[in-house]
Amino acid sequence: MNNYFSIEDIDSLSDWINEAIEIKKAPLSNKQLGQNKTIGLLFFNPSLRTRLSTQKAALNLGMNVLVMNFTGEGWSLEHEDGTVMDQGNSEHVKEAAQVVSQYCDVLAIRAFAKLENREDDYSEKVLNNFMKYASIPIVNMESATKHPLQALTDAITITENKKVKKPKVVLSWAPHPKALPQAVANSFVEMMQRMDAHFVITHPVGFELASQITKQVPIDYNQNNALKDADFVYVKNWSSYENYGQTLVNDLSWKITQEKMKVTNNAKFMHCLPVRRNVVVDDAVIDSDNSIVIEQANNRTYAAQLVLKKILEES
Ligand code: CP
Repeated sequence: MNNYFSIEDIDSLSDWINEAIEIKKAPLSNKQLGQNKTIGLLFFNPSLRTRLSTQKAALNLGMNVLVMNFTGEGWSLEHEDGTVMDQGNSEHVKEAAQVVSQYCDVLAIRAFAKLENREDDYSEKVLNNFMKYASIPIVNMESATKHPLQALTDAITITENKKVKKPKVVLSWAPHPKALPQAVANSFVEMMQRMDAHFVITHPVGFELASQITKQVPIDYNQNNALKDADFVYVKNWSSYENYGQTLVNDLSWKITQEKMKVTNNAKFMHCLPVRRNVVVDDAVIDSDNSIVIEQANNRTYAAQLVLKKILEES
């Protein structure tokens, strides 16, 4: 594997999940693999979990880690070819990607959707340009439309917690005070289509994700119906794809409450975090024994470590 850009880079999902679970049992067993190798983590947006878990994963593999926050620290990058760069951007991605490739052996990048122009965001300009101009493997730490490290984490967490071979998994939209990208939801939807699960999406009308991603996944606009007999309830806000980047409604009645969880099959509650308590989910649910959000965040390390291990083994 050269790049980990999307979950399509996973050749055998069940093998990957099993290997990640093995890594979790002995995280330092490949400490030699990354010796004298350096990973660069470039952040164009904030992070807690992705930054620290990827760093931890790299350290577990014996790698050196360089971290750079572009917001406020790096030169603002130009991504268009042939631009007369007499405006705000100081450096072209062509040079930046090639320069960083000399300092690092692997590069991981976070660059969120701007939510201004759907075509721009869905063209994945930032990640694609780095993949085009860098000469080292690239890992996606959440791009405009994908969060494949999170989705791999979620697959590991569901596998570890499921009590039946084919659990019912519900992805529920949740209210949020500001418009958020579709990346987490997109990658989770793609992942659930590859897993052995009864998968249902529930959201208010107008929040349909891209049909090329949801494909044949059933959508139930009635949240209570969708939640019935669920084994896992995965909650996430996203802004509209059709009316791109807009929050059409912020219907607080979509918040996950204890009352709603009662119709599930004693479901585990999942969220990628960070989460707005008592907007997305009530304290009583996220603080309950059924909440596995902390365990889920812990698995971010092993998902990242598996991806880095595979890259190092092939480099
Ligand atoms: N879930 C996730 O990506 O968390 P961070 O934004 O804190 O990295």
